[in-house]
Amino acid sequence: MRGWMGKFRSLFLFSALALFLSGCSGVDNVSALKPKGYSAELLFNLMMISIAIMLFVFIIVMVIYAFVLVRYRQRKGQEDMIPKQTEGNKALEVIWTVIPILLLLVLAVPTVQATFDLADRSKQDDKGTLTVEVTGNQYWWHFNYADQEIATSEDLYIPTGERVYLNMKSSDVIHSFWLPSIAGKMDTNPGENMNTMYLEAYDEGVYTGHCAELCGPSHSLMDFRVIAVSPEEFKQWKEDMKNVDPKAKPESTSAQEGQELFNKNCMSCHAIGNAAAGVGPNLTNYGNRTKIAGILEPTKENLVDWITNNNEIKPGNKMPMNLVSKEEAGKIADYLLQMKDTEITPESAGGSDNK
Ligand code: CUA
Repeated sequence: MRGWMGKFRSLFLFSALALFLSGCSGVDNVSALKPKGYSAELLFNLMMISIAIMLFVFIIVMVIYAFVLVRYRQRKGQEDMIPKQTEGNKALEVIWTVIPILLLLVLAVPTVQATFDLADRSKQDDKGTLTVEVTGNQYWWHFNYADQEIATSEDLYIPTGERVYLNMKSSDVIHSFWLPSIAGKMDTNPGENMNTMYLEAYDEGVYTGHCAELCGPSHSLMDFRVIAVSPEEFKQWKEDMKNVDPKAKPESTSAQEGQELFNKNCMSCHAIGNAAAGVGPNLTNYGNRTKIAGILEPTKENLVDWITNNNEIKPGNKMPMNLVSKEEAGKIADYLLQMKDTEITPESAGGSDNK
């Protein structure tokens, strides 16, 4: 009875664990186990090789273990039987030395190859390659398209099927740019030490990334999104971004007042248009953002909440609260959210994954 209960209990435990873990891969575009880009696929294949080798070793060891258990168990009437004792067997010793060496070689060759492949920058400065300067900040990401006179924050647009090279730094502490389904992970360091990586997305879509280095109280809220669009759409997006006029008058009176309030209170830190951001994120075409501050649904209500209450939403972030009243924040939100010149949006790229 006890044994049966014990089995039932472990079955329940394993089912619960499986259910819990299945939540980890529920989102298509944030999983290293569902690669959708060149680097992610390379890393996935390395994982599969390692798992195959581990399974191979595990199964062989288990078979030998089971064989020995059965073959040399104590039998009735032979309680004092001692099997033949062997000390030193050259053939066996050679086998169990050579097999691990071979297995390590099978692991090492593709790993070293992939390491060099992932660090390959030989084409970075060729004509036509796109380079983005990535800056990690507490707790947001800035993307400056070198030579393109475009800057944005939080949402990084890239063309599919093309290598986009990233030059990565931090403005404060160490962060880590992690885009599981497209590429791997790379630290961004303060100071002169610049890291690099590249992104190559196979399909259009919105891919979620996280900061993967503990960087302060809001580390876990430092999300970003990479929006992969077709090369033609990307060209269009670049044009649209370049043509943004920060002084353009919005249509509604509320948004017009919002623009004045924004210019008076927010412009010293934020930027709209090509100007690189100072202390705060670049807000060009803010109406196209997948999220507010990388984490909230892009609604007016959330934006007002963010402007007036941001330190409770993202503790330790540097935006001052209470600069404007709730009513004024509503006007600023109207202004920011109506700025969406470009036709190229997360929706046109296959929708947001909302996670
Ligand atoms: Cu930035 Cu963790």
